Amino acid sequence: MDDPAFAIETDLQTQSILLASANHDIPALRNLLHNTSANVQDPETGFTPLHAAIAALEPGPAEQSQESSKQVNGHANGENAEEVSEERKQELEAAAKTVRLLFQNGAIWNDLDGNGETPGCIAYRLGLKELYELCVDAGVRAELLLSRLDEYQPLGDQDSDEEEEEEEGEGTEDSIGNNEEQSTAANADIEEKVGEGDESTLNPNYLNSRLTFDRNRILDGSANGVMMDWETKLMRRSAGLLLPSSGLRVLNVGHGMGIIDGIFQAKGPSSHHIIEAHPDVLECMKEQGWYDKPGVTVHEGKWQDIVPGLVEKRELFDAIYFDTFAEEYKALREFFTEHVIGLLDPAGGKDRDGGRFGFFNGMGADRQVCYDVYNKIVEIDLFEAGFDTEWEIIPIPDLDSEGEWEGVRRKYWVLDKYKLPTCSFIG
Ligand SMILES: C[S@@+](CC[C@H](N)C(=O)[O-])C[C@H]1O[C@@H](n2cnc3c(N)ncnc32)[C@H](O)[C@@H]1O
Repeated sequence: MDDPAFAIETDLQTQSILLASANHDIPALRNLLHNTSANVQDPETGFTPLHAAIAALEPGPAEQSQESSKQVNGHANGENAEEVSEERKQELEAAAKTVRLLFQNGAIWNDLDGNGETPGCIAYRLGLKELYELCVDAGVRAELLLSRLDEYQPLGDQDSDEEEEEEEGEGTEDSIGNNEEQSTAANADIEEKVGEGDESTLNPNYLNSRLTFDRNRILDGSANGVMMDWETKLMRRSAGLLLPSSGLRVLNVGHGMGIIDGIFQAKGPSSHHIIEAHPDVLECMKEQGWYDKPGVTVHEGKWQDIVPGLVEKRELFDAIYFDTFAEEYKALREFFTEHVIGLLDPAGGKDRDGGRFGFFNGMGADRQVCYDVYNKIVEIDLFEAGFDTEWEIIPIPDLDSEGEWEGVRRKYWVLDKYKLPTCSFIG
């Protein structure tokens, strides 16, 4: 690496591949990809070839002012407008071909540039739907592959689970809980409410931290938002869909501020089980009389330790809600793939066609492209686990302008639409 000639050569290759990508020059790009990685990054802008290919479609200042003067002076006659749109169409097609070629050659979907944007973020910002979808689909393929590889154990691998757990701490944790070395990728963005590589939001650290209870939120010891009042609308809708009438049996995993449990209680369930692991939340529940409410059973501990006992006792529920904190997607997937089957009554109470399962759907919600990738993955995983899922879109107001994030370490929600899932067994 100390050889200056080598450094110049590398820099030249990087600039050539970025230029070919920005020009959507497929033959040149094909050539360069023989001996240059599709994942080089410009040292100044942080652009990868994918960023360059997509950002090249951003109208320059000249085009922007031309457009606005056309609009102001009313000069956009039909012919001219058609010429422009035909030219634009060709540009978009060339860009899509370039992006496809880069993905075929191993381009990483979620590398960040100097502005903290992934290629998909740029496509989204510029309203380039086709390119955006290409990025989302590449993200889904990559993340599904990584999660399947994570499950895969080579034949003859005699490692014990303990050894595996030790090893898990070593690599960079990827977005949906797999270990993968990827330098600047927006990997851990597909996490829920927690930040990438942030030790404070590992579940054991969270469970040992002291919580602060405000009127309208719970923060952990590092000022991460555990639960916030703005989510009430989402809890109310989920509770309504999961528990439409009184006299049903409900299980809620993760009490938090008790918002959804309060709504469940008000519906008069015949039994209401709550699993909660944090000692401060449990303390608060005692003070608020939760242990004595009608039909309520509080299980103190992590769901991972409690659920096997419930299954053993053959406790069945008509509705189950899952909303924990500082856990990876892997945990949610494990819950619905392995445990809901033993807990949810396929009959689901009187006048119903089966039990319902819901969860807080907040993974990757600090970046639209990550939310869209994650949503496609969760839909596939739910289907594979035997669930039909109905999605409802709920608009979310601008939380920034409402001052919701003041004093909170990290905005875990920046999007304007929430996708609310309600799942039932297929068939
Ligand atoms: C986001 S809050 C739940 C908010 C709740 N849905 C409401 O309406 O207020 C998450 C809760 O899950 C709890 N939790 C985190 N990890 C857990 C685990 N492994 N098992 C059980 N509870 C857990 C946290 O202590 C916290 O109280």
